Amino acid sequence: MTATAHRYQFRNSLPQLGHLQEVLDPITLHELTRLGITPGQTALDVGAGAGSIAGHLCELVGRAGKVIAVDIDTSLLNPTGVLDVYQRDLRTQPLPVEPGTVDVAAARCVLEHLPNRHLLLNQMITALRPGGHLLLGEIVYAPVSAYGLTDSDSELIARVVHTILDVFAARGLDLHWGDKVPSVLLANGFQEVRTRWVAETWTGGSAGCRLYADNATQLRDRLLADGLSHAELDRFAELMADPAVLVRGYQFASTTARKPR
Ligand SMILES: C[S@@+](CC[C@H](N)C(=O)[O-])C[C@H]1O[C@@H](n2cnc3c(N)ncnc32)[C@H](O)[C@@H]1O
Repeated sequence: MTATAHRYQFRNSLPQLGHLQEVLDPITLHELTRLGITPGQTALDVGAGAGSIAGHLCELVGRAGKVIAVDIDTSLLNPTGVLDVYQRDLRTQPLPVEPGTVDVAAARCVLEHLPNRHLLLNQMITALRPGGHLLLGEIVYAPVSAYGLTDSDSELIARVVHTILDVFAARGLDLHWGDKVPSVLLANGFQEVRTRWVAETWTGGSAGCRLYADNATQLRDRLLADGLSHAELDRFAELMADPAVLVRGYQFASTTARKPR
């Protein structure tokens, strides 16, 4: 394994995680609501980021419940009477939870980044009580296209986004992990396994296009090294802010399942 492989791609920042949350929260919060989480329960959010899922879990478990948020970078997470925050590098440190104590364990856009994703998933499964729920969300590979633009702009958008996905993959992100999750959970005896794949169009200036633009900004040096020019990346940034632009967004796989009783 090289030093750059299996390195998390981004610095946590409110703008970048805010865009991710704006795009994905409607999907994730819908799934959490469907799980029937009740006041007083204990929830775990693995790789909690800027904390939108942890915050929603706090609302669902109420003041009698507990939410445990874990991340390597806890700078955007504020502990409360309900929310416990733990700073952990989950590549090398275990989850700070007792076996069989968690009613719902969530991880969104986290396991796909980590080389020990199977081990970490096993830790999440061990943390769950019998009958507890798992919620895993991952970006998965899908071809990206743009609509209604000149050929050169369409090709540029596809090229930049595919190069971003290639950089993710070269750094150890498994863009097919989300597609494998249902089989992995079935093999672990999980019940009520349900995966929803979601991809929608994003308009220039929307949270989704700003997420694409932020990803390109954060990975700019690497994209330049992979053959894109400053002019092309500047044009990409312009397109991502242009309300006349319509692109296919990242594809997201969201899986829920229940641990056998
Ligand atoms: C793409 S963000 C997702 C954040 C949040 N789950 C969400 O969906 O809004 C990935 C998160 O995983 C965390 N992370 C990355 N590598 C980690 C590691 N080795 N140990 C713990 N957390 C890690 C990052 O700090 C970041 O908060």
